[in-house]
Amino acid sequence: MDKKYYEAYDDRYKQVHQSHNKPWAGYRPSPTIEKLLKKYGANSSSSILEIGCGEGQNAIYLLQKNYNLEASDVSPEAIRWCKEQARIAGVEEDRFFVMDILNNHLDKKYDFIFSVAVLHMLVDDKDRREFFNFVRNHLKGTGKAFIVVMGDGKMTRKTDSTKAFELSDRPFGDKTIQVATTSCRMVTWEQYLQEFEDANLKVLDHYLDKTISGFAMSMVAVAEKEK
Ligand SMILES: C[S@@+](CC[C@H](N)C(=O)[O-])C[C@H]1O[C@@H](n2cnc3c(N)ncnc32)[C@H](O)[C@@H]1O
Repeated sequence: MDKKYYEAYDDRYKQVHQSHNKPWAGYRPSPTIEKLLKKYGANSSSSILEIGCGEGQNAIYLLQKNYNLEASDVSPEAIRWCKEQARIAGVEEDRFFVMDILNNHLDKKYDFIFSVAVLHMLVDDKDRREFFNFVRNHLKGTGKAFIVVMGDGKMTRKTDSTKAFELSDRPFGDKTIQVATTSCRMVTWEQYLQEFEDANLKVLDHYLDKTISGFAMSMVAVAEKEK
């Protein structure tokens, strides 16, 4: 079967891991997620799901802090890398699994679901709707979602998803390397908040954040299911 455009990160991770044995995204967890977990009352028994964990920078940090977390990504290479890093860090590698959240469902609901820099990869309206549906369908009644995307709330951008697997030059440390282009869609605050509303998710808070590693500016939204 043909690969979907949003699977292009699998190529990028393989290209970087095989030639450099280093993570594409670095090892810097975002302080935002832990701050939000604390603010909304997470403890060591709260169930937490990360969507699109990539190379595990946030998930491994939170597992080391004893949070009850599971982390998923559509990229088998990302999950292979996470399991290896989990072994090195001394946390459970079984917490990581491969899943395309746009085409799968889990028989479980969570107290917290978070996602960092994943939604902006979804270019098609239908895929973005599926992302929000997955979040709503997997939150417990009072569960909270923290969704972080690239953007400043004003700029808009939509890349051509047919080019996601093409090679592009990208900075990597002090070098420029060739990796899969991947995809990107940036939306305004108005569009972003409308997407939550359309999915019957109530936004409790939203703000710009400069601390998400790899991005000059990110949009953070905290939401729960509409009652
Ligand atoms: C820009 S990376 C961000 C990774 C990580 N969250 C971070 O902050 O470094 C986007 C990630 O979303 C994953 N992804 C894209 N579409 C997905 C889907 N449908 N289901 C699960 N993961 C997905 C990609 O494989 C990639 O690892």
